[in-house]
Amino acid sequence: MQVLLQAPTPFDQSILWRFHDAYFGARGIDAWNQGEVPFYSTSNYASARQHAGFLTDLVLSQLETGRLAEGQEIWILEVGSGLGRFAANFLRALEIACGPAGAEVFDRLRYVLSDYSERSLREACATRALEPHVKAGRVIPALFDLRSRPGEGGLHFLDGAKGPPNAAFASQFQMVIANYVCCVVPLKNLQHKQAEGWLEQWVRVESKVADDAAPKPAEQMIDEMLATPTREGMVKGLTIQWEWRSRPLEEVYPKALHRDVLAALVRGLGDATVGYPHGFIDFVEGAGELLAPGGVMLVNDYGSIERKELAGLSERKPQIYGNSLANSINYAVFDAFAEVTGWHLLRSRDKLGSLHTAALRPGIGWTEREDLGFRKNYIAWRGGDDILDFTHTARLCAEKKDYDRALRYWRRAIELEPENPDHHYRAGDAAIDLGQYEMAVTFLEEGRGLAAGDTTLDFEFQLGRATCLASDYPASIGWYEKALEKENHPTTWTNLGVLYESADRFQDAYRCFKTAMEVDPQYARGRERMQILKDLLWRRKIEEFEGAGAKDPLRKLEDKKSVKEEKTASGDDEEEPAEDEESDDAEDEESDEEESDEEESDDEDEEEEEEEEEEEEESDDEDDEESDDEDDEESDDEDDEESDDDEKSAAA
Ligand SMILES: C[S@@+](CC[C@H](N)C(=O)[O-])C[C@H]1O[C@@H](n2cnc3c(N)ncnc32)[C@H](O)[C@@H]1O
Repeated sequence: MQVLLQAPTPFDQSILWRFHDAYFGARGIDAWNQGEVPFYSTSNYASARQHAGFLTDLVLSQLETGRLAEGQEIWILEVGSGLGRFAANFLRALEIACGPAGAEVFDRLRYVLSDYSERSLREACATRALEPHVKAGRVIPALFDLRSRPGEGGLHFLDGAKGPPNAAFASQFQMVIANYVCCVVPLKNLQHKQAEGWLEQWVRVESKVADDAAPKPAEQMIDEMLATPTREGMVKGLTIQWEWRSRPLEEVYPKALHRDVLAALVRGLGDATVGYPHGFIDFVEGAGELLAPGGVMLVNDYGSIERKELAGLSERKPQIYGNSLANSINYAVFDAFAEVTGWHLLRSRDKLGSLHTAALRPGIGWTEREDLGFRKNYIAWRGGDDILDFTHTARLCAEKKDYDRALRYWRRAIELEPENPDHHYRAGDAAIDLGQYEMAVTFLEEGRGLAAGDTTLDFEFQLGRATCLASDYPASIGWYEKALEKENHPTTWTNLGVLYESADRFQDAYRCFKTAMEVDPQYARGRERMQILKDLLWRRKIEEFEGAGAKDPLRKLEDKKSVKEEKTASGDDEEEPAEDEESDDAEDEESDEEESDEEESDDEDEEEEEEEEEEEEESDDEDDEESDDEDDEESDDEDDEESDDDEKSAAA
């Protein structure tokens, strides 16, 4: 049964945005870490390096024009900072990738990291990537809802952190950065029909409830949803009806700025459909007061770039990530804003770009250095897009088992993002699949160093595999032991047991297989390996009792029986074997499958048998590695959730 939660309402005022705000408020950085909200395209190191390069050019220009004094602090404000990965990568790029000028900016930087979600902000500041900067006072956490005015008490520094000297923040910031934020602030969807004027998109929201559920007032249902805003699929599960309603623009927007920007935006297009981010435009206008003379408002977001893409009547619906909403933005809105307000604008115009950038500034035109800086950092070099393409292609190649190409792409990803442990992990994985075990060890050891204790990627397990395949068994034992300190996994126990067994450490091997069976009683390989160990120990004991090369008396019986069976099969002997023996044999055969070759060699001399045993053990190791690949793929799948982010980002 459907229950009406909200009668038709303009989209920007609908309860969907209350759920959106509540989601960001409660989810914290798991919104990104659990793959619900994409972030890699906006926050990767290569993309952050583009922005850091532009800031470096901007600061040089500010120094040249005397608008910034040598040695003066450089204040930056980031709004909607989310996970904080962008800030961390931006700071790192300034420090190491933008030459001496960038390093100097880094030294003088005061970076106000802000979000309206206190939970996200606190958790982001506690991440390994940001905590040292917070401690050093370089990153200053602040609560800020960009629908409020910073100078009017809207910007709150966390825990008494010291903000800029100018308490009203007027003319304070050299740069204000809004990364993937414009598209998440309430906006209106509008159609402009040449013949009829403006139409606004309204939404009607219903929720499905069980037919026998006790009726509840809509307000109570909304309150309950707001109390659990991180519930999976909560917003996606709503029934939303969209409709267009004719409405005079003066009524939609009493504020002339918005009417003027819209008029400029659709001028000459005929019928048009626009997602108009009035909330964000209000923020940009207000941010003018925050910017130091010559300071820049930098907007990075998804969407389209050509104004003509607005032409025609089309539907518009948000993307839903977690329980948040994201709307595609056409960057021509900034052309129209600049035209109406006289602000100066530089923006990327690459139709193929996955992310677009607009640099806006009131009053002061661009210097040649800034103009060139924009071209250099956003047009001539597109590292932010390249890293997305390299990682995507590498994954596809690995899926198609084109491992050498996958590895080449991971190598290129590492060149662009040298400190991302994920690329090293995957390069190591591809190198294992390619049979380049030593190379794999190098990638994995480097990656492990970069991950520095981060447990999301199991470098130790992969190193166990790679070193085993490189025949460095003592090293492999060491890595698997370390992997077990982090995760109690039956595959790791079993692999370790096999290595102990091959080193004649039978008691340790026994303990490993036993633990594997305890950790996961369904894990067949643990049981199989225990059986193999049991048979091996039994053979050894027989040799101890009877001398080298002695045959297993049970096996002799079996041999006789099988000769008999052969005869039976060939019609020489009509007599049937006893049923229980037959079933026992069948069982033995199944469990001894892997040993059948070895058993045949029972008749041969001791030396040969030992050689075979060794070979068998080695090949078992390899088999183990193969079966480990499955687990590996499982863990890849988990990581692939991150790669899904990329796909989402690309689709967003
Ligand atoms: C899509 S995420 C982007 C996060 C990050 N900038 C990135 O690029 O990955 C949007 C962020 O904006 C924040 N946000 C949403 N609405 C906001 C508002 N009105 N004021 C300030 N922050 C807001 C959310 O809490 C979230 O952290």
